[in-house]
Amino acid sequence: MAKDKPRRQVSDQQGAEISEAQIAVHWQEEGYYSPAKDFIAQANLTDKGVFKRFTLDKFPGYYKEFAALLDWYKKWDKILDTGKPPFWRWFVGGRINASYNCVDRHLARHKNKTAIHFVPEPENEAIQHLTYQELFVRVNELAALLREFCGLKSGDRVTLHMPMVAELPITMLACARLGVIHSQVFSGFSGKACADRITDSESRVLITMDGYYRAGKLLDHKEKADIAVAEAAKDGFKLDKVLVWQRRPGRSSSPTPMVEGRDFVVNDVLVKYRGKRVEPVQMPAEAPLFLMYTSGTTGKPKGCQHSIGGYLAYVTWTSKMIQDIHPEDVYWCMADIGWITGHSYIVYGPLALAASSVVYEGVPNYPDAGRPWRIAEELGVNIFHTSPTAIRALRKDGPDEPAKYHYHFKHMTTVGEPIEPAVWKWYHKMVGKGEAVIVDTWWQTENGGFLCSTVPAIHKMKPGSAGPGIPGIHPVIYDDEGKELPAGSGKAGNICIRNPWPGGFQTIWKDPDRFVKQYYARYCRNPKSKDWRDWPYMAGDGAVQAKDGYYRILGRIDDVINVAGHRLGTKEIESAALICPEVVEAAVVPVADPIKGKVPDLYVSLKPGLKASEEIEKKISASVVSEIGAIARPRHVIIVPDMPKTRSGKIMRRVLAAISNRQDPGDVSTLANPEVVDKIKALSR
Ligand code: PRX
Repeated sequence: MAKDKPRRQVSDQQGAEISEAQIAVHWQEEGYYSPAKDFIAQANLTDKGVFKRFTLDKFPGYYKEFAALLDWYKKWDKILDTGKPPFWRWFVGGRINASYNCVDRHLARHKNKTAIHFVPEPENEAIQHLTYQELFVRVNELAALLREFCGLKSGDRVTLHMPMVAELPITMLACARLGVIHSQVFSGFSGKACADRITDSESRVLITMDGYYRAGKLLDHKEKADIAVAEAAKDGFKLDKVLVWQRRPGRSSSPTPMVEGRDFVVNDVLVKYRGKRVEPVQMPAEAPLFLMYTSGTTGKPKGCQHSIGGYLAYVTWTSKMIQDIHPEDVYWCMADIGWITGHSYIVYGPLALAASSVVYEGVPNYPDAGRPWRIAEELGVNIFHTSPTAIRALRKDGPDEPAKYHYHFKHMTTVGEPIEPAVWKWYHKMVGKGEAVIVDTWWQTENGGFLCSTVPAIHKMKPGSAGPGIPGIHPVIYDDEGKELPAGSGKAGNICIRNPWPGGFQTIWKDPDRFVKQYYARYCRNPKSKDWRDWPYMAGDGAVQAKDGYYRILGRIDDVINVAGHRLGTKEIESAALICPEVVEAAVVPVADPIKGKVPDLYVSLKPGLKASEEIEKKISASVVSEIGAIARPRHVIIVPDMPKTRSGKIMRRVLAAISNRQDPGDVSTLANPEVVDKIKALSR
């Protein structure tokens, strides 16, 4: 199998490429923090023996403990089938249903307990508390509608483009009940981005909502559905139905008209299915539960396919042991369900454990930076989960706000990007009131659940470091030649996982070759081998491992920018710019941002004869927003006379990144056009 070209450089915190040796110099060890005694006394996982039980020589048997947290219709025959590497098959022969495990099985003991607290963004709108019994009823009625009105059956794909409302988990669980594969697209993504995912997954049905509140405004969301249908049609793909939930049942929240015969108001159609019950379909453990699209090295987002049995077992175990969720906890993960974090740690993990999970519609600091703490106080939230971007924003807007509210978190999570030690310390002292334990969880859309984190009652915390592999996960750092970099070497390399795990994605939807090439080819020891030991998983992140075994994640090694904890492909943004006929070349670079971690700067050169203007800049920016969504909006569009290029014509993004980040671009004398560098510097804002 061909190996990718060695990459000798990784990105530093500022987004520019620096050498591994430089990283070693900049690496500064932080002191440890210990979990509180009260926390340890109540924690789910305090047995240090877990690491002895979960050693590689006991792999894969230890994953029985994960599957044992679920109810199975039929027990699996084989824990792991490695017959076709690296397409691992978990719990083969088992039969299971995710909806049953997240809803029905809790009715006997918890039917009156809140499953979902839905917190609308407007503060004058009452919070909805949906009990497990109500969730059961609503999931069943919707499943009946999907089966009978839409004709959906197991294996079909359905695209969801829904905001953060209780109807989203209801819809996901209704699909799961039927064995229908859901593909939820982040509501902030554009109609065009939604269309690409509809077409790739071949979803005949799109489920959306008419509107939702965001930063004080009622947004028209239905209009994106119309764009999605039209864009899919351009690709030759026709949808049967668009189901539109009403944000305010009984009245429309969107001025966009419904299309006769294609669009249906879910709330109206549901009336016909009142009281209907649908037996959960007994699905093979290996069948897909959902697709989650994410950005990669090429422009096209890839549909990560996650299984029912392995995925659910993995998120349930990690929710219980790393998030420390007990059924009596009120758990709030402030991520969006449109990302993997929301799937695993708002919906599937917490609900499988019969927790109460908070779904908050709006932005964290609306109407002010005290909002999250008021919600926590009102609902008695005791486990809180968010991203460094949200923490930075809340710290900036209301550094002293948390102290004004009477809530107590026992546990807090950070996820999605590296967290600066200073921000971690504010999170710990102010948000956690010095009492809450913090886990810094490193993982990816592809992984289903956490890979590296401290075990909260067992390990000490170290600001800025994710921690060791969680029990059962055995990470390793390889250099470009495939040599292991030992703990404490001070050198950065590619973080990989030695062993498969049940939460890992099964493949890229309709692109198994890319799955093998991107994640396994580089460090595969023998492409013919059926031994999992020969197939380490390459995450695509640079990392260093300290002497204590803790990993510090440095960021992506590929062409991906992590904006506010979300992956955006630079090629996706560049292609969106190139749609404008004026643009001939585009290059995106990450720029350090005090709140969002990284934001994209977009450099473009225009067709000969065209003059730079603000109008063209705006047009290019608008094209990025309509192709991908506001999350990808460039900080600046910089129109340059020419791109800095190597003699072979390759655009030197490294030079552009240095300029955007106000760093020294280094020696540029070997470029084909070194004189352009000063001209670009003069243009850069
Ligand atoms: O670069 C790593 C960063 O986010 C990437 C995964 O992004 P995504 O698939 O969108 O999933 C985000 C939520 C799981 C990783 O490749 N990342 C994620 N968590 C951390 C992190 N970087 C540093 N520390 C983390 N805790």
